[in-house]
Amino acid sequence: MKKISKICCIGAGYVGGPTMAVIASKCPEIKVTVVDVNPERIARWNSDNLDELPVYEPGLKEVVAGARNRNLFFSTDVEQSIREAEMIFISVNTPTKTYGKGKGMAADLKYVELCARQIADVATEDKIIVEKSTLPVRTAQTIRTIMENCGKHINFQILSNPEFLAEGTAIADLQNADRVLIGGDRSTPEGREAIDALASIYEHWLSPDKILRTNLWSSELSKLTANAFLAQRVSSINSISALCEMTEADVDEVAGAIGADSRIGSKFLKASVGFGGSCFQKDILNLVYICKSLGLNDVAEYWQGVIDINNYQKRRFAEKIVTSLFNTVAGKKIAFLGWAFKKDTNDTRETAAMYVADYLLDETANITVYDPKVTQTQMLTDLNYLATREESKNSAMLHSVKDPYEACKDAHAVAILTEWDEFKGYDWQKIYDNMKKPAFVFDGRNIVDAEKLRNIGFKVSQIGK
Ligand code: UDX
Ligand code: UDX
Repeated sequence: MKKISKICCIGAGYVGGPTMAVIASKCPEIKVTVVDVNPERIARWNSDNLDELPVYEPGLKEVVAGARNRNLFFSTDVEQSIREAEMIFISVNTPTKTYGKGKGMAADLKYVELCARQIADVATEDKIIVEKSTLPVRTAQTIRTIMENCGKHINFQILSNPEFLAEGTAIADLQNADRVLIGGDRSTPEGREAIDALASIYEHWLSPDKILRTNLWSSELSKLTANAFLAQRVSSINSISALCEMTEADVDEVAGAIGADSRIGSKFLKASVGFGGSCFQKDILNLVYICKSLGLNDVAEYWQGVIDINNYQKRRFAEKIVTSLFNTVAGKKIAFLGWAFKKDTNDTRETAAMYVADYLLDETANITVYDPKVTQTQMLTDLNYLATREESKNSAMLHSVKDPYEACKDAHAVAILTEWDEFKGYDWQKIYDNMKKPAFVFDGRNIVDAEKLRNIGFKVSQIGK
């Protein structure tokens, strides 16, 4: 079997960085080099101060500290790393297109194509190319065509190996994966050899029965489908949360009751202000786009509904704040607890918080945010990205502070946008004493003890209750 001794990963982001750190820590005999075009990002991965790594993940620091400069390297020398590696992971971003055909829906594959062309230019020996980024089904064909037309007599094998890690638990998800999926060309000996070579890397720490082998297209499509199904569960329970609020049913009780059915299962049934993150919306939009392009309009509409309910849920939460505050938040201070798209991460991509903030800023509220991991600069970047008003207005109306009690001081309402554990343990009496009255709490994550807060004097509103 082909033994891999050098790996290159293009893209040192949320996926590439942690994934390669775990591979390096589990396979000390393999040299793993993570490359990126962004020198600042690479400098942070190489920083002596492990608190400066560009990605925050519980357990990541320790894994990086153990392997870095032993067999794990971070570099901007993309070509050198491609040249020496037998296996190259493509882990660059594939955002939703912001221009041209498929704008707002299709995945933008320009970075993936650039990687493929760069590999084709530089390679002098056989390479196994692994798609790690989430890609539309049949992207491997594009990569293959580029490779086959590069004019070199080199054997390129393309594999699809989608990442299922969730942020905040990335290291644990990688170390104890439910499954690893490898798609490849099983019809040729070279294809099977490439699949086995990749499988043998994971077999350093996972049992072989966790490694699923499929054809390329099933693997590519499985990633989109997995995210669509997960998001669909959140939208399903969020749609029911609206009904609960009108019928005195309690959405957490309903979720508990249906989740106890082993056919349904209990995970991903937590009602919330809406899902965020870099993947769910992007991947579903991509799925919708692919279905439409293939004339499957009914299928496209079905999945579009998952996004529609998510937008509805974010809007509904913001509207409730306005109506509860006597139909106006103009000039009122609203405190946000949390900005990240979920707890234990500094990632804010597609966070519900920015959409709720945008809605309230339209109503000319003043927002003060406390998030344990997100900077004010990032919050303003997120808002400016929406391009709904002048940037100077965003920075005049939204501020972040480093102390949660200060964020809540003199506020008319506290809105909880992220489920950070620390919010539960706050001195809520102290928060209440320093707020304007009546003091409102809008709990977008159902994490506070509503009964206790009501006894203090708060007017508490939770999702689906
Ligand atoms: C990305 C994709 O968004 C996701 O679909 C996929 O599943 C995994 O890769 P993520 O790692 O979270 O997710 O993206 P990001 O944190 O933006 O990292 C991508 C990195 O690639 C960036 O650091 C960027 O500088 C780098 N990059 C991008 C290159 O090195 N070369 C390029 O041509 C483009
Ligand atoms: C997701 C997938 O879980 C992962 O397998 C894939 O590789 C990348 O996309 P991630 O975006 O990191 O991971 O986070 P995830 O934990 O799935 O949460 C996504 C969003 O859904 C978050 O905003 C979260 O708060 C929300 N969510 C999740 C809920 O509102 N309710 C739930 O029950 C679960």
